[in-house]
Amino acid sequence: MYTNFVHTKILNTTRRPTIGVFDSGFGGLTVLKALLEVVPDAEYAYFGDTARLPYGSKSVETVARYAVEASHFLESQGAQLLVIACNTATALALDRICAAAHVPVVGVVEPGAEAASSATKNRKVVVIGTEATVSSHAYRKALENRGLQAREKACPLLVPLVEEGWVEHSVTEQVAQIYLAEAFADGFHDADTMVLGCTHYPLLKSLLRRVAPAHVSIVDSAESTARAVSTHFQELLPDSDSGVEERRSAPRLKFFATDSTEKFRRLGQRFLGLPIENVEHVDLKE
Ligand code: DGL
Repeated sequence: MYTNFVHTKILNTTRRPTIGVFDSGFGGLTVLKALLEVVPDAEYAYFGDTARLPYGSKSVETVARYAVEASHFLESQGAQLLVIACNTATALALDRICAAAHVPVVGVVEPGAEAASSATKNRKVVVIGTEATVSSHAYRKALENRGLQAREKACPLLVPLVEEGWVEHSVTEQVAQIYLAEAFADGFHDADTMVLGCTHYPLLKSLLRRVAPAHVSIVDSAESTARAVSTHFQELLPDSDSGVEERRSAPRLKFFATDSTEKFRRLGQRFLGLPIENVEHVDLKE
């Protein structure tokens, strides 16, 4: 059995639909940040599986099991739409999550591929992500389905460097130089678009902008996902005007973490760019 939730379902007493956002940890807060810009009129429940991260080095079986558990938890909290903010979980387990969920599910890979398809002129795209995301070839498939050529490059050292706060550090810059030199080698030196296929990479956007070849457009899958969520969100709104005023008020945020709530608050605010309060500890038992 997947869990012994200590929470009972929260009844949504407002007229604002609840969006459940799931990530392996803090990184998905970059997606939540983009969501708050594009869909400010929602309630948000964010679940970070901090006790079990990183997902990027784990197997399909494990990631799928964790992700399905997290999705059930968010539904138990009243989520009417699930956003799988974690690139690794989307790449490895979106089908399994969709099959297990009772509400619509939006992952980050398709919106990222769609944005890359709009950005590229020469149809050649580089995707950077975790080891597991790259091994799944989910991005390559999504890009090839749109008639694009794709080169995927695993950059496993970038996640711990971002979590260390080294987003403008010379070591991170050197590491990124090595990865991107390998990514833009061989037939891909002229690729004109690069997808940030990991929740942590938006924090490195300015560094990556300096390191990537100057002609390259950078696509942030957090931003394109937020735009895709906005479309689904409209379908959740009641037809009548009732509750419009309430929906216009500031979004309400609730956070759940499977490890230290204090650490979630501390690290999380770097990713979200806002102070984080309201974090509850959750124990998802095997
Ligand atoms: N959230 C993961 C992703 O976007 C990165 C961190 C991890 O490996 O858990 O792929």
